[in-house]
Amino acid sequence: MVPPLPQGPQRSLHILHLEDSELDHQLVCRALRKDKLAFQITRVDSLLDFSQQLAEQAFDLILADYRLPGFTALDAWSLLQASQARLPFVLLSGAIGEPAAVAAIQMGISDYLSKDDLQNLSRVIASALEVFKAKTAEARAVSELASSERRLAHFAQHLQTAIENERASIAREIHDDIGGSLAAVRLDLAWIARHGQSTEMKEHAATANDMLQHAIGASQRIMMNLRPAILDQGLYPAIQWLAESFQRRSGVKTSLVTNHPGMQCGKAIQLTTYRTAQEALTNISKYAQCSEVKIDLSDAEGVLTLEISDNGAGITAEALNNPTAFGIRGLKERAKVAGGWLDISTRPGHGTTVILTIPLDEASTTPTEADFL
Ligand SMILES: Nc1ncnc2c1ncn2[C@@H]1O[C@H](COP(=O)(O)OP(=O)(O)OP(=O)(O)O)[C@@H](O)[C@H]1O
Ligand SMILES: [Mg+2]
Repeated sequence: MVPPLPQGPQRSLHILHLEDSELDHQLVCRALRKDKLAFQITRVDSLLDFSQQLAEQAFDLILADYRLPGFTALDAWSLLQASQARLPFVLLSGAIGEPAAVAAIQMGISDYLSKDDLQNLSRVIASALEVFKAKTAEARAVSELASSERRLAHFAQHLQTAIENERASIAREIHDDIGGSLAAVRLDLAWIARHGQSTEMKEHAATANDMLQHAIGASQRIMMNLRPAILDQGLYPAIQWLAESFQRRSGVKTSLVTNHPGMQCGKAIQLTTYRTAQEALTNISKYAQCSEVKIDLSDAEGVLTLEISDNGAGITAEALNNPTAFGIRGLKERAKVAGGWLDISTRPGHGTTVILTIPLDEASTTPTEADFL
């Protein structure tokens, strides 16, 4: 029983037959007719005709004798691979020996059938077409997935750039507008404090000055979070500043070590590393309930590594896969855009370590669009 051909009975199968014997060709035609297969077949017996036919016509399948005058089916297979065409390719030959048949299948040739076995030809053709169709669909799915991942990565990169630019512009406005006004108010308050007649007035001026100092401190902190100007002094001083302010705010003992305080890297990498440390510390203050945080920033053999460990609650698999949490997912995307990767090592009850790794050479060749700010 011959399985139905994938194309359906209404469409006739177009076969390219590489065969130097007209008699063998006729036997093939007879075997296919016997199985009531609707087909058209074109015979060629040279490599030149083979490539010409491939270029001129659309075929569904190739049947190829193994040994032909001056070449073998493997040469035709190589020609097919070099061309744009992708077709199922069945060896139909006299005895070629098992090792040659296995080698041919390993090279990607669809199937092998002996000429003594023509009663199975339609079955072999149907199965070669079926397998080819499945492989084509799989290859298409893989390529669509890859291109959708590429689009997503571009989108993530675009989003990161837009967010950083927006942050920088808000920081500038706070600096120029609010910062400028607060500085002017401070001068006036100092004037009032100096020239005020009553003690009451001086007391009010002093209280207003305290509030003003608070507002100035807050606006500087907000600016720093939005656009870390401290990065201009280098990555290590910036991470040091983050660690110190984290310890001050949270009361959690925080240590920072590095093998290279003066390390240099591109702006995009600096910012990625800084934001990673920032998000990891924010997560620690929100969830870890820990007593100690260790940060290690190192630069060895052209690879930058940032490790932030806490001895807190650890992360459960559910929390890590939470679809509404974007912090860690965003860090992974950022790391990828910078040419690196982010790992999380954690065990519930035994703390969490966030590890960012960026090969500096590779990363420095990433697009300049990533060099935001
Ligand atoms: N250091 C940590 N210790 C314990 N749990 C953590 C730690 N870091 C992250 N988590 C857990 O992992 C989850 C995912 O973190 P992630 O930063 O992706 O999201 P989020 O902080 O909840 O939200 P977002 O960052 O989007 O504001 C958190 O909800 C928290 O449950
Ligand atoms: Mg978070």
